[in-house]
Amino acid sequence: MTENFYNESNEAPDQAFEQSLRPPAFEDFCGQEKVKDRLMLMVEAAQQRGDVLGHILLSGPPGLGKTTLAHIIATAANSKIHITSGPQIDKAGDLAGVLTNLQEGDVLFIDEIHRLHPSVEEYLYPAMEDFKLDIIIDQGPNARTIRLSLPPFTLVGATTRAGMLTAPLRSRFGLTDRLDYYPIKDLTTIIKRSADLLGIEVQSGGAEEIAMRSRGTPRIANMLLRWVRDYAQVRADGIITPAVAKDALIMREIDEDGLDEMDKRILEAMIYKFNGGPVGVSSLAVAVGEDASTIEDVYEPYLIMQGFFKRTPRGRMAMPAAYVKLGVTPPRNSHDQPELL
Ligand SMILES: Nc1ncnc2c1ncn2[C@@H]1O[C@H](COP(=O)(O)OP(=O)(O)OP(=O)(O)O)[C@@H](O)[C@H]1O
Ligand SMILES: [Mg+2]
Repeated sequence: MTENFYNESNEAPDQAFEQSLRPPAFEDFCGQEKVKDRLMLMVEAAQQRGDVLGHILLSGPPGLGKTTLAHIIATAANSKIHITSGPQIDKAGDLAGVLTNLQEGDVLFIDEIHRLHPSVEEYLYPAMEDFKLDIIIDQGPNARTIRLSLPPFTLVGATTRAGMLTAPLRSRFGLTDRLDYYPIKDLTTIIKRSADLLGIEVQSGGAEEIAMRSRGTPRIANMLLRWVRDYAQVRADGIITPAVAKDALIMREIDEDGLDEMDKRILEAMIYKFNGGPVGVSSLAVAVGEDASTIEDVYEPYLIMQGFFKRTPRGRMAMPAAYVKLGVTPPRNSHDQPELL
């Protein structure tokens, strides 16, 4: 789910599409008002003082705008952005390479920061706190540490799993902001903006139809807009009316709650195979043939937010809405078998 900006010459068309729609400044970034306000305040305060911006952690499900915000923050702070990711830095030496390349005031964006190796993380602590880097040179009895001074920089970390970050790392960020799923109103605005940029004619109702089925996620909204545009071009006169949008999305088998095939498989497995739960995420993952971490990062947060299931200490449990969605009667207690309506 994370984009790769490192080999831009070789980028997939989808990434080029995403980047073309990426809002360049806070004013163009729709929604997430509280997060935006806090970030803008922080940037302004640092600028007034002539200080380097403090470290910022952005968390939230995929496609909600973490990478976009990291770029916007760097632009607003007039800083150069350096981009890397947790899995890319697998040795302390890699981190040293990245850090020693920074100039004063630069932004270092570490995507998927929860995937940093613990041994690398330890080097990051003094770098974030005191702008110092301890490197060990030589081996065995001759091994010694030398301490390098780094120019003050801003670390912007992004993660889909704030919970997986160690407490010492989390506590070193001056601001931790969580992005939430977008309401339909904001997604409608995002779709209209994207349609404008792409020269697509979309009616308000059409944009809203797409927004309703976008799982609160701008990336999905843009992807569906593209699909509906294709549909409108081939099956209608190119204009996205509510009816055209609806038909196009029915063809993609996305229902009015934005649930797709995999969401439905998860709900079906929970109810039919695990009797409504509680079930652990790894069993669920095997049952639906998906990776456990993808279920946790991508599918589960939305299904929980929509009230289809809940997490309990014993595992995931289906809620009445899940039974209703599948057209079965919710059991009176969790041990009853669901009956067909
Ligand atoms: N608030 C917003 N307003 C307009 N467009 C947005 C907004 N947030 C995200 N987008 C669009 O959604 C796309 C995905 O956003 P982005 O890449 O920043 O998500 P992400 O949170 O970094 O996802 P991942 O966790 O997968 O890396 C962007 O290309 C951008 O066009
Ligand atoms: Mg990203």
